[in-house]
Amino acid sequence: MDSIQRVANAVQRKLRGESTGHDWYHAERVCTIALRIGAEQSADREIVALAALVHDIADWKLNDGDENVGVRQVARLLQAEGVSQPIIDKVISIITTISFKGAGVATPMATIEGKVVQDADRLDALGAIGIARCFAYGGHYGESIYDPTIKPTRHQSAEAYKAAKTTSLNHFHEKLYLLKDRMNTPIGRTLAAERDQYMREFEERFLAEWSGQK
Ligand code: ADP
Ligand code: NI
Repeated sequence: MDSIQRVANAVQRKLRGESTGHDWYHAERVCTIALRIGAEQSADREIVALAALVHDIADWKLNDGDENVGVRQVARLLQAEGVSQPIIDKVISIITTISFKGAGVATPMATIEGKVVQDADRLDALGAIGIARCFAYGGHYGESIYDPTIKPTRHQSAEAYKAAKTTSLNHFHEKLYLLKDRMNTPIGRTLAAERDQYMREFEERFLAEWSGQK
């Protein structure tokens, strides 16, 4: 068994049953699509796969806001599965810079492997799966599916974005529709545009049903 497979097994054990849209299958889908985009970009396969698999273990939302807890967990997990320190350092540098932090906050990735994994993670927030994850996340955190009296906000800082109370449909506007113009790679852009279009059709239909037109 290679290090990618061993890490995949460890992440699967760790994320089993997670219900905010950051479950094992999210990690697996991100890994699959990251490897597809990465092959096209001649990115390093091991770094791409490992970063994709562990990227959400270090998510601040899963660790009560403390990024260091996640980083230490990831480093320990990778060490335990025999990954070398230089690779661990590269993976950690990717996963600590990957997250969306609000409409007005840039999140540039330094390496091609980082760009690839960021694109793959963003793609999984779009399309049919993105819609399902958005409502699952909203339900978990007590958001309404939609509320016409609460308008979407363009958050100008990471703090404002983290603190905001919103609705799941507003999240389409606050984050998800912004992603297609922030993709790093050509395939990422093509796939994101297609998934974005599908979500806009969903929203149109949702609002038509909401108002009793359909
Ligand atoms: P990232 O991978 O950029 O850190 P997040 O962890 O913020 O992404 O988001 C992961 C998933 O949770 C996405 O599918 C996203 O749509 C969803 N999500 C994040 N914040 C909200 C929110 N306020 N309401 C609904 N869904 C959300
Ligand atoms: Ni993710």
